[in-house]
Amino acid sequence: MKKIGVFCSGGDAPGMNAAIRAVVRSALARDVEVVGFIRGYNGLIEGKTIPMTYATVSNIIQRGGTILKTARSQEFMTKEGRATAFANLQAEGVEGLIAIGGNGTFTGAKVFLEEHSVPTIGIPGTIDNDLFGTDFTIGFDTAVNTALDAIDRIRDTADSHDRLFLVEVMGRHAGDIAVAVGIGGGAESVLIPETPTSIEELIHQVQNRPRKKSSYIIIVSEGDELGDANAIAAQVTAAVPEISTRVTVIGHMQRGGSPTAADRVLASRLGVGAVEALLAGEHSKAVGIVNDVLTLTPFEEAITRKKTLNPDLVRIIGVLSQ
Ligand code: F6P
Repeated sequence: MKKIGVFCSGGDAPGMNAAIRAVVRSALARDVEVVGFIRGYNGLIEGKTIPMTYATVSNIIQRGGTILKTARSQEFMTKEGRATAFANLQAEGVEGLIAIGGNGTFTGAKVFLEEHSVPTIGIPGTIDNDLFGTDFTIGFDTAVNTALDAIDRIRDTADSHDRLFLVEVMGRHAGDIAVAVGIGGGAESVLIPETPTSIEELIHQVQNRPRKKSSYIIIVSEGDELGDANAIAAQVTAAVPEISTRVTVIGHMQRGGSPTAADRVLASRLGVGAVEALLAGEHSKAVGIVNDVLTLTPFEEAITRKKTLNPDLVRIIGVLSQ
């Protein structure tokens, strides 16, 4: 391979720039040219590229977001869109792709590959940590630390006012962020999509809270089946009006900011691993790190198999929140 392309797709995640840098630097070290596609699959369809040189990726390892921009492309979901993308790749002389993103990104890459045989390797980049085939996805650690910082601050004010706070964190279908910040922030309760949430039980817990607790923090994963934090707060307030209740939705703050050391190292390892796999003839697979070892998982498996939340983490929340 003499020329490859790299792009980000789906939601941005801190550490994507570190991954782009690792892809570019490891490819250039092997005399392989790299182009970056702008705004994910849209860039492939519109033929929007930038040459990726050492200069392009200098001074970006510490930056949040992605210098290549990202999008969720509707057009790439059509056969016509993918045919245009393939024609652009051929015109550019791009022989292989590195796709950085989550489940939707890998799904797009798999379909593209089946239709047009473009060898592609995926790099798991999403704050949700919901991809099978890697212990951690790029951006998860930073998102957790950002949310935790907010929760520590909320604890100060909750404690001063003897208040109950419901704090909503991201994680479309996965409770990983909620569980990590729940343990790290000493939350009294954590509501996640992986376990059934009973409003009656939650209200019972609040009503029977130990008297010595002046602050009470409930972490709500946005994917929890009971609904958003505001809806849950309304039910808690109706049942326990004597406790002052407030809601904080951390939202997209969790997606921005400088990546943590863990995310920079993870992104660098995955970026190098992805290029080495692609140049070794691998395709239709995602790189990941499992038990500290670089692994490759077929897209099919990465997309369809569900990553399970460590039950021990869920268990200790119950133990520690008594
Ligand atoms: O997948 C990452 C994520 O941040 C989810 O946690 C969240 O549900 C979603 O993206 C939000 O997407 P958008 O930025 O399009 O609102």
